[in-house]
Amino acid sequence: MDKAGVIPKVSQRLDEYFSASLDALPMEKVLPCPIFQYSSRLRRMIVWKSKGCVLGGEFLALFRDRGVYRFWVRKSDLEAFQMYFQAERHLEELELSGEQKQVRPYTESGDKIASLLLADGVDPRYKKGGAASEARKIVEQLTCPNSVEEQKPVTAKAREVVQDVLQGLNCEVATLASEIWKIAELEPELGHGVNVATYTVLFALAFGRIDPALLSDLALAGLLHDIGMSQIPYETASTSWMEHTPESREEYVHHVDFSVSLIRHLDPRISERVLRLVQQHHEKFDGTGYPQKLKGFKFESVAQILGMADLLDTVASGHWDGSAHPLRETFEILERLEKLRTFPEFFNPEIFEAVLKWIHHPDFLDAKKAAEKMIKQETAKLVKGVETR
Ligand SMILES: [Fe+2]
Ligand SMILES: [Fe+2]
Repeated sequence: MDKAGVIPKVSQRLDEYFSASLDALPMEKVLPCPIFQYSSRLRRMIVWKSKGCVLGGEFLALFRDRGVYRFWVRKSDLEAFQMYFQAERHLEELELSGEQKQVRPYTESGDKIASLLLADGVDPRYKKGGAASEARKIVEQLTCPNSVEEQKPVTAKAREVVQDVLQGLNCEVATLASEIWKIAELEPELGHGVNVATYTVLFALAFGRIDPALLSDLALAGLLHDIGMSQIPYETASTSWMEHTPESREEYVHHVDFSVSLIRHLDPRISERVLRLVQQHHEKFDGTGYPQKLKGFKFESVAQILGMADLLDTVASGHWDGSAHPLRETFEILERLEKLRTFPEFFNPEIFEAVLKWIHHPDFLDAKKAAEKMIKQETAKLVKGVETR
């Protein structure tokens, strides 16, 4: 409590704090300002010790035993806190660790979805509806950019949203997915897995699938689905799909089985459902996929969502035809591919049509209508020209 018994409001903006190691805290000295802990469970910054407290070795040892190794200080208290340290060595350590351990604030959408999913006593229909409409909004935003360059920050934001949802789910598999996600983010070659996990979780949420265990499994399957690529020759793995020879294509398809075997040995917490999802990520609706050539409704609807997310990022990243595309253009390419056939090739038409509905925002519809009108006018002119010749 502060003066007059008023509890000071704790800012939840993580960029207003720096963190430091518990080992850097001097013992038996009066704290010149409050120090904080970030509770990932409550998703809140909370006051750990108030200004004026004296910290003893026993107290710190107790927290170290519970796995707490860091604390947070307001940047506005930096000067007072530096005085508290005195020793030069400590100061360097403090500033350095503050820089390195800076955590970005939660995204508004990620926070909203995670809070909805975890809310107690809320009607599940309301939870589903709220999470679905928030996720559809992100999917729609993902398809606004007109160029690959413009796409990058929008995709990065969507990745952050899904990462925040996972961190907020507070279950073991989601934590595992978050850990793998952080490693994958550091490695550009694993960016495909992160994108696929992002789109898969967003599509699932947008379809009203809100079970935390399912969402965690989908994220894991997205992150790990192509891990088996490491077991096939690099030239084969890096060749775009259109450029494969029949022989290299045959070699390429083995990555699915390799992925399943590797994941099976990775961590015992990974469920059979993740293995099934990975096994089915290249199956197609018309049964021409691989490796099992499963037809239509013979494979799981969530695996179809993962397959759609995978193809979306494959085409967008240029691994399909050799050139990268923004997502809006990618959806148009997929739409054209599906319309070339009388029977849908890749996707369950109900799933694909639903996703197309979410992304056909007014601008897109206007542009599409204008293009259709122009084509009609040009065709009419052409026909008239032929008739009058
Ligand atoms: Fe794959
Ligand atoms: Fe893939």
